[in-house]
Amino acid sequence: MRDIVPFGPISARTSTDPERVFARVRREHGMIRALLDDVERACAIGGPSPAGARATRLRQAVWDLYLLFDEHLAMEEAYVAPILRAFDAAGERRAVDLILEHNEQRRVILELVENAERDEKALPQLVEEATSLVGVFRADMIIEESALAVVFAVPG
Ligand SMILES: [Fe+2]
Ligand SMILES: [Fe+2]
Repeated sequence: MRDIVPFGPISARTSTDPERVFARVRREHGMIRALLDDVERACAIGGPSPAGARATRLRQAVWDLYLLFDEHLAMEEAYVAPILRAFDAAGERRAVDLILEHNEQRRVILELVENAERDEKALPQLVEEATSLVGVFRADMIIEESALAVVFAVPG
């Protein structure tokens, strides 16, 4: 199990500086990628490990990911969205798209958390759902970093 280190508070100076906010986004993405690695590793456990132990490890990895991911979404909505809104005429649309995408990500990860907690689904099905989420979230972060690099006009 990974020791979860919260992202921590964001300073007043960082909160309104596009370059610093974007750096923060990328730093948090790095931590989320490490948690996605943990989920993948939990999915890949095979061999003699009993199914119960494997399910417990996957449940813990999914929960750890959920806690930080949720905090990350809140950070982006608090600090990225206002910068997008103020940037240009398309900023409001970009901010709304960001929030709508976050709501979809919340839906997907909460569904996985609930399925892992309920312990009703067979482990292979949970592994399939978790693997799919890892792929989608990795792709989402790459797309988000590219989109923000253009808007924030800082090196991607
Ligand atoms: Fe986001
Ligand atoms: Fe993000």
